[in-house]
Amino acid sequence: MASTDDYDKAANDIRRPGTSQADGVLDTRELIRHATLAASSHNTQPWKFRIQQDSVTILPDFSRRCPVVDPDDSHLFKSLGCAAENLVHAAKAQSFSADVRFDPDEDGVVILLHRDASAHPTDLYRAIPQRQCVKTAYDGKSLEAWELDVLEKAGERKDVRVIMLLSAAQKDAVIDYVARGNIDQLTDRAFRDELVSWIRFNPNEAIRTGDGLSGRVSGQPALPTWLAKWIIKLVLTPKGQAETDATNIKSSAGVAVFVSREDDKAAWVEAGRAYERFALQATALNVRTAFINQPIEVRSLRSNFEQWLNLSGENAQLMVRFGHGGTAPFSLRRPIDDVVLEE
Ligand SMILES: Cc1cc2nc3c(=O)[nH]c(=O)nc-3n(C[C@H](O)[C@H](O)[C@H](O)COP(=O)(O)O)c2cc1C
Repeated sequence: MASTDDYDKAANDIRRPGTSQADGVLDTRELIRHATLAASSHNTQPWKFRIQQDSVTILPDFSRRCPVVDPDDSHLFKSLGCAAENLVHAAKAQSFSADVRFDPDEDGVVILLHRDASAHPTDLYRAIPQRQCVKTAYDGKSLEAWELDVLEKAGERKDVRVIMLLSAAQKDAVIDYVARGNIDQLTDRAFRDELVSWIRFNPNEAIRTGDGLSGRVSGQPALPTWLAKWIIKLVLTPKGQAETDATNIKSSAGVAVFVSREDDKAAWVEAGRAYERFALQATALNVRTAFINQPIEVRSLRSNFEQWLNLSGENAQLMVRFGHGGTAPFSLRRPIDDVVLEE
């Protein structure tokens, strides 16, 4: 039986400090290790990496899709964007610069790597092993204007911008949208079944799979899977979740919404990159982030939410709350060998 110590050891091992080398020989496994530390929807890690001379291609692993919460695979492609962003910063640490583009023929993200003597390890690179979603309440304090400015800039990408919602009235409106999303999602049997299938209820299960939403991260006691599945049916209610989300959003300094001009795979990858960069910058500033995507995931709410945001022609892609607060145990990842494609 694996213990929580075994779990923490596994989580720390994949986050060991990187080897930054500038001798011109690219350590691609290090690039991929850093890429896999990115966020992914339900921690599905829906990626495969193909290594070639001077390039890495991140391909979707559709066996890990979540058809209920993500029927068009938009979250899946955003997750690939998150991994791509980490890879870019990891390449810089090895004195390589990277050009990233979505290739519709490959259905993947192609990253071309060039030797660049001026590229070096940055604060965002050093933040990669520390970035995490902290899903608990924050300290309720505002951020300094300069911190907000730096964060907003970090989340801006080609055709993606960040809307910062900071006032109490704006947070109240978000709380209302999230609560409506919770009702829709948590009263849907298929949504609940899919969510529960990705929850890892004890260290044994989490370490065996190396993926999913671990109870250790969300502060739940380790339980046998059969018992936990029975209990979660009782505790996972729209009302209970809405109360937790309201407390968490009120405790946050603000909410950031990532919006894109287009709504296709290339735009989803860009939105994922924008979030990951925002989150790395937040980590470097000791600021926590957590997703609250319900009003975007629930189709019947999304256009209403976009109207409230005053968007004309743009698309809401991701929403996170942020603020200062404590850390949480880290999530796990699968071994690198499981995600590298053999040529
Ligand atoms: C596209 C995308 C959508 C996500 N949606 C949610 C969400 O709706 N709610 C949530 O709590 N976390 C969400 N997450 C966060 C993942 O659960 C988290 O990244 C994963 O469990 C790994 O944990 P880590 O980010 O702490 O490493 C999302 C992540 C991504 C990339």
